[in-house]
Amino acid sequence: MYYLKITGGAKLGGEVRISGAKNAALPLIAMTILAKNAIEISNLPNVADIKTLILLLENLGAKAEFKGENSVKIDATTINSTKATYDIVRKMRASILVLGPLLARFGHCEVSLPGGCAIGARPIDLHLSALEKMGAKIEIKQGYVVATAPKEGLNGAIINFDKITVTGTENIVMAAALANGKTQIINAAKEPEVVQVCEILNESGVKIEGIGTDELIIHGTGRNLPEISNFSVIPDRIEAGTYLCAGAITNSQITLTHTNPSHLGAVLAKLADMGFRTEIDGDKITIFETDEIKPVEITTTEYPGFPTDMQAQFMALSCVANGTSVIDERLFENRFMHVSELARMGAEIKLNGHIATITGGELSGADVMATDLRASSALVLAALRAKGETQIHRIYHLDRGYENLEGKFLKLGAKIQRLQE
Ligand code: EPZ
Repeated sequence: MYYLKITGGAKLGGEVRISGAKNAALPLIAMTILAKNAIEISNLPNVADIKTLILLLENLGAKAEFKGENSVKIDATTINSTKATYDIVRKMRASILVLGPLLARFGHCEVSLPGGCAIGARPIDLHLSALEKMGAKIEIKQGYVVATAPKEGLNGAIINFDKITVTGTENIVMAAALANGKTQIINAAKEPEVVQVCEILNESGVKIEGIGTDELIIHGTGRNLPEISNFSVIPDRIEAGTYLCAGAITNSQITLTHTNPSHLGAVLAKLADMGFRTEIDGDKITIFETDEIKPVEITTTEYPGFPTDMQAQFMALSCVANGTSVIDERLFENRFMHVSELARMGAEIKLNGHIATITGGELSGADVMATDLRASSALVLAALRAKGETQIHRIYHLDRGYENLEGKFLKLGAKIQRLQE
């Protein structure tokens, strides 16, 4: 096991290259199950969750050949099993993304229930009820979702999601791609990661209308497998937001490269509210020093609103703002695990249900523990600002979603080391 040792107070400077989006790469890797051909995926983030999902596909019989750290060729035409076992699925909830494609292509599959995670129960009821509307028989047996499609394949249906679900939308888009007839998804998620899955399928002959809106119409191919061309994963908007917050919390000027600024509207707006000027130049974003960090009010909501995956990072930034900030977490019931760890560093945060009130002040280094992916990144941000030394333990959470984090921060001038416990 490793931990991070960070000495706070260093100014950052220079450029940081943003990696491909983990939350785009995961559904795109699952999407290869639908293709009649092998596909090369580039700008793949070199993070643990991606390796986990590729291992899952290999366990099903697919072939994966890495071409360097950030590119893989996946041939899913050799899949000879449709049982995604607990030992892998338990490591990562997003494994549920193979359910729709496996069922649509093979007519049957067994996928272990993902189980909850630190930030909440995270059920998949919306995924399952939508597949049933498409004709699937869904049973839960010994912790597995056992799904069977009608002999002639899944049928298009009208799916009205009671709640907006990102992977739910992605699962149903992929299942609908091979279904007989048209599927309409009402109240679909519009995240850029959902859009990329739709755009690639649409370019591959699976006609999809309404891409980027909350209403999608997918014209299924009736199990004719599409030929999907090689593609590059979109930039990671959450990693980008995290590094912008690193520049902000250390009051430094840094430039991010290989981003898509149009995916960061809400994040850039909240940084402006806090007194930070940013400049956009193509795929580069520069954040500048400010003479005062102002407090902020944030309510997390679905895209294009303020992302829940940036909530912890802005909470860390609010801890050193000049005043009182309020953060309302509307998506997950338990996404404040970072609060007690930030409090160990001197943060003044009051919780009342899903609302956190943060009184800005100064932070001091401490021993803290990562609890989930984005909470751990908030602790890194706090440590970069805190007086003295911070040790962050259980950083395997970080490695799930941030490529080469300490290497990127070292290049920016941070005093950070990865050490063995
Ligand atoms: C995706 O998770 C992301 N993960 C999460 O990022 C992100 O926090 C979340 O969307 C919200 O933006 C990936 O894309 C791999 P949801 P997902 O289904 O799809 C409820 C990270 O840090 N719900 O949009 O699992 C659910 O409980 C991760 O990278 C149901 O009730 O989230 C939650 O309250 C963390 N029933 C809300 O909907 C369902 O069947 C949104 O969940 C499905 C979801």
